[in-house]
Amino acid sequence: MEQLLALEMVRVTEAAAIASARFMGRGEKDEADRAAVEAMRQTMDEIEFDGRIVIGEGERDEAPMLWIGEPVGRRAPHGDGASENPAIDIAVDPLEGTNLVAHGQAGAITVLAASEKGGLVHAPDTYLEKLAVGPGAAGKVDIRLPPRENLARIATELRRAISDITVVILERPRHETLIEEVRQAGARIKLITDGDLSAAISCAVQGTGVHAVMGIGGAPEGVLTAAALRCLGGEIQARFRYRSDEERARGAAMGHGDEDRVYHTEELASGESLVFAATGVTAGDLLQGVRFFGGGARTHSLVMAYQNKQVRFVDTVHMFDRDRPPSVRL
Ligand code: FBP
Repeated sequence: MEQLLALEMVRVTEAAAIASARFMGRGEKDEADRAAVEAMRQTMDEIEFDGRIVIGEGERDEAPMLWIGEPVGRRAPHGDGASENPAIDIAVDPLEGTNLVAHGQAGAITVLAASEKGGLVHAPDTYLEKLAVGPGAAGKVDIRLPPRENLARIATELRRAISDITVVILERPRHETLIEEVRQAGARIKLITDGDLSAAISCAVQGTGVHAVMGIGGAPEGVLTAAALRCLGGEIQARFRYRSDEERARGAAMGHGDEDRVYHTEELASGESLVFAATGVTAGDLLQGVRFFGGGARTHSLVMAYQNKQVRFVDTVHMFDRDRPPSVRL
């Protein structure tokens, strides 16, 4: 079931990537996001499953589509009208890196995670302080420790000097102290304008040149990171960081009132039946972007199913017109 769902879900992220990639460099971030959302919603409704959005575009009154609680998928009804498919929770980031697409910059992706009901934390749209590492350093770091201590541990586990460790940090004023501490520790830093989810997945993929992600970013992205890193054997640790009392109250109502509590990968994405799919929109460290050509487009995706212990990189040629198909290249 997981395997089949994974292959269906990649169709969803591919459709969102193709739709939003058309907005590359047009300076229209909201339109790029809307195109991704609409394509995801439409493609999900072509697939037979009983889904419900647990992380999406916001609350029902804020988002026209993919709002939290929205049912998605084409249901196969029983005689009594109920669905005969198991209930599936869906977390989406229809376009991570809206600004990246708007400015034609690298690293935008479309993302979806699915699990059995209750397998993904219901996170409010706030911030998480995050520390993400790949399988080599998983289980060896502790977000409560100073960055220099974690960097020393990562370096030991990866059998490198700290100066050969690259940490990705979102370039934000709130990270001034963190950046200074990482510089003092001697590690290399890659400052990014957006996209800590994509960066965190990269930690667990050799060859991307990324070894850790540190700092405060979106909470929904944190849960999606956990889903990906569970499949890849990496680790994320996180603590809620609220921007206002209103957010704090909302977080507390969802069971996340303790800001000292450290959430681990398995708590953020606890599902036993876990599926993760992401497709590149603009070319990045992890995935190639959408490439359009006469009559079609080519996409590059990462698809994983936790129980199957398989990581697939999927290279798909999409033919827009059956009557005038493009010639397919290797
Ligand atoms: P978009 O949702 O606009 O694409 O931004 C994504 C992102 O850069 C995430 O990667 C990151 O977690 C978050 O935004 C950071 O939020 P902020 O821009 O408020 O610092």
